[in-house]
Amino acid sequence: MTTSAALESFLAELERLRGDAASSLAAASDAGAVEQARIEFVGARSGRLKAVQKLLGGIAPADKPEAGRRFNEIKAAIAELFAAAQDRTAAAAADTAGGPLDVTLPGAAVPLGHLHPITQTIRRVQEIMGRLGFESVDGPEVEDPWHNFEALAIAPEHPARDPLDNFYLAVARTAEPLLLRSQTSTVQIRVMESRRPPLRIVSLGRVYRPDTADATHYPMFHQVEGLLVEPGTTMAHLKSVLRLFASSFLGGDVRVRFRPSFFPFTEPSVEVDMEWGGRWVEMGGAGMVDPAVLKAVGYDPATVSGFAFGLGVERIAARRHGVDDIRDFYRNDVRFLRQF
Ligand code: DAH
Repeated sequence: MTTSAALESFLAELERLRGDAASSLAAASDAGAVEQARIEFVGARSGRLKAVQKLLGGIAPADKPEAGRRFNEIKAAIAELFAAAQDRTAAAAADTAGGPLDVTLPGAAVPLGHLHPITQTIRRVQEIMGRLGFESVDGPEVEDPWHNFEALAIAPEHPARDPLDNFYLAVARTAEPLLLRSQTSTVQIRVMESRRPPLRIVSLGRVYRPDTADATHYPMFHQVEGLLVEPGTTMAHLKSVLRLFASSFLGGDVRVRFRPSFFPFTEPSVEVDMEWGGRWVEMGGAGMVDPAVLKAVGYDPATVSGFAFGLGVERIAARRHGVDDIRDFYRNDVRFLRQF
């Protein structure tokens, strides 16, 4: 059986078409190039495959079955080339977008930070005292002598005002020397000056004293200041509040003990000890607000009385967490901080 020239050139044309499509697609690096090749080779109106198909009309009837069979084979082969090229460019696009999500890969835990133990302690104290009706208020860290000393009945000659025991700020000689507050009792005065009784507030914040750092001292530390002013307030209320606070904060069985003491702004004054886990620890001072202080802020000591207390935040935090050197709170050693 002789093959006609028309069939010969038809088959050659098909073969060339397949070769051209293969090299075009091999060079196509993205979906856009694949689509362009698709239009060129198999486009419905002017694609090259369509043009070759038209040549079928000039083939002798005897050769038609053979020509048709080859045409379909090549058409299927080209379709396969396109499918492969489309898959390849889609996968490349997904790779550059970060790759498809493989949910079977092990997860990498991202370590989260957390609040500093002192901040955690402050928030916890605020929360516990809040439940007892004490509103949390702030005061400035740079203070004037009136709020840090005078209104608290700390007389000008009192040793607590000594420049060696305070961080006075350098100011013009004529101006009143400001200082970094040495106690949060300043906030008692600020609150009483701006409000009328009944009052229940706590204030937690930084205080500053030029102490040499050791296991129990640091030139900056934090205090919890508590103040309640209501008609008929007694030491019994003070002790109840401190005991409720201590058992909530430390948890379990806590005993609170008062030892007679002296502070210029309370009368009587006490040191507050707490026993927890078989050990007594001094946590701060407290007392009944001195009538002189009530007068200094314009209250009438004949009609209202109040109690106040001041505890060391580092102290209560150290006691609760078993920390025996408060400097650890400020070394910023993440191995220490991570434990809280
Ligand atoms: N401000 C005192 C100090 O820093 C502590 C203190 C004592 C506060 C008695 C009080 C208080 O509110 O009533 O040493």
